[in-house]
Amino acid sequence: MTNAGSAQATGTWRKAIELDELWEGEMTGVEVAGTKVLLVNLDGDVRAYENRCPHQEWALDEGDFDGEKITCSRHLWEFDAASGAGVNPTDCRLKAFPCRVTSDDTVEVDVP
Ligand code: FES
Repeated sequence: MTNAGSAQATGTWRKAIELDELWEGEMTGVEVAGTKVLLVNLDGDVRAYENRCPHQEWALDEGDFDGEKITCSRHLWEFDAASGAGVNPTDCRLKAFPCRVTSDDTVEVDVP
């Protein structure tokens, strides 16, 4: 299963985490090949974003995830967890990375 979102895969998949380390309804921050990545489990569907708020670069894994929205802990900007689109405000977007879960339940991301 691949959740490419708006990001383009380069074909270099790297292991980020085992799926059983990221339960449904949870998010976590990991580092993959030197890139800070936010992983979000939306009812078994995993998304990967840059772990950095587009406002003032705060780490998003320090915020909240209510199952639909990611809220930055710094100034409470909100993002749609499924798309990365800004909810409040709407003129921003998280940077998405291609993400997939392999047949042995490894979460892999394709970071530049
Ligand atoms: S740094 Fe995230 S809302 Fe300001």
